[in-house]
Amino acid sequence: MSEITKIQLGQNGPMVSKLGLGCMRMSSIWGGPTPDEKESIATIHQALDNGINFLNTGDFYGAGHNEMLIGKAIKGRRDDAFISVKFGAIFHNGQWIGLDLRPVAIKNFVNYSLTRLGIETIDLYQPSRMDGSVPIEDIIGTIAGLVEEGKVRHIGVSEINADQLRKASSVYPISALEIGYSLADRQIEAELLPTAKEFGIGIVAFANTAEGLLTGDLKAPIAADDHRNHFSRFQGDNLIHNLEKVEVLKEMARIKNVTPTQLAIAWVKEQGDHIMPLVSMSRRSRLPENIAAMDIVFSSEEMNLLNSTFAIGAIKGGTYLQR
Ligand SMILES: NC(=O)c1ccc[n+]([C@@H]2O[C@H](COP(=O)([O-])OP(=O)(O)OC[C@H]3O[C@@H](n4cnc5c(N)ncnc54)[C@H](OP(=O)(O)O)[C@@H]3O)[C@@H](O)[C@H]2O)c1
Repeated sequence: MSEITKIQLGQNGPMVSKLGLGCMRMSSIWGGPTPDEKESIATIHQALDNGINFLNTGDFYGAGHNEMLIGKAIKGRRDDAFISVKFGAIFHNGQWIGLDLRPVAIKNFVNYSLTRLGIETIDLYQPSRMDGSVPIEDIIGTIAGLVEEGKVRHIGVSEINADQLRKASSVYPISALEIGYSLADRQIEAELLPTAKEFGIGIVAFANTAEGLLTGDLKAPIAADDHRNHFSRFQGDNLIHNLEKVEVLKEMARIKNVTPTQLAIAWVKEQGDHIMPLVSMSRRSRLPENIAAMDIVFSSEEMNLLNSTFAIGAIKGGTYLQR
């Protein structure tokens, strides 16, 4: 496997790998069994060995399990890893029940995260969402205080809109915006991406395969017990329409001798030097394919075909990433 290149995350921001490792699915979030811990740790090690230093977690992923897992994995090799942590989401019995973004709560959350991770400083710390219950200025101001205290190095934000991003940036330089972005979900191109660019903010782009839609493996109808049934994108005629679009991706993948997933990830990385695809991988077998995606290049004809096939609005129905 080739070594991953590094990019700068935000103006004057940290150097991180161009491909990020999403660790969320190494823990049980919505209830259910915990995935194979040994394999998860081996995946983190193999990612680090290949120069993927960006590890993404949230204190609510498996109610702290994910941070403890990462803590175990980076023991003895802290300097190889860049740790990105989200906070604020509150779960109970595997159900999302809201956000807690109060300054007093943030000051508490960070100590728990540092202990679970077994580190002195979190590299990138960010609220997982904003909900209006606490002014953005207070949230970012509180994290800025943690930077002063040495508990946090850089400040990020996640799943927010352009106005919120402007407000956050007025308080403290924001290094990264974590946001869902894929060929199937391009709405952020209208306002949010230009705003991030204006402020020199790096993009950590997740859900590159749009909940599996772009892997080329889906068939209509999907199984009754598949959680994606809740989303209109995966229902009835919408799914049939959407899978017709995916045929274009499949055909291009066939011609280029790669997989549709690799193309979906490569399209995201091609959107700018400041954009990092953040991909969930909880088994080592995913790494070679996804690392190889970072070497894919597109001709202008190929890029035009993808951009027109997957123009904004071309994919019908939504997912949990509604904007
Ligand atoms: N800020 C937010 O609101 C937010 C929301 C969701 C996620 N995230 C972060 O973003 C990361 C990625 O998000 P995600 O998990 O929703 O999307 P994703 O990266 O598209 O992952 C979805 C699934 O794709 C599978 N996969 C990986 N490589 C593949 C390949 N080459 N071919 C086929 N399938 C492949 C993974 O399976 P395996 O697990 O089996 O390897 C995973 O279950 C998460 O880990 C999390 O850190 C952030």
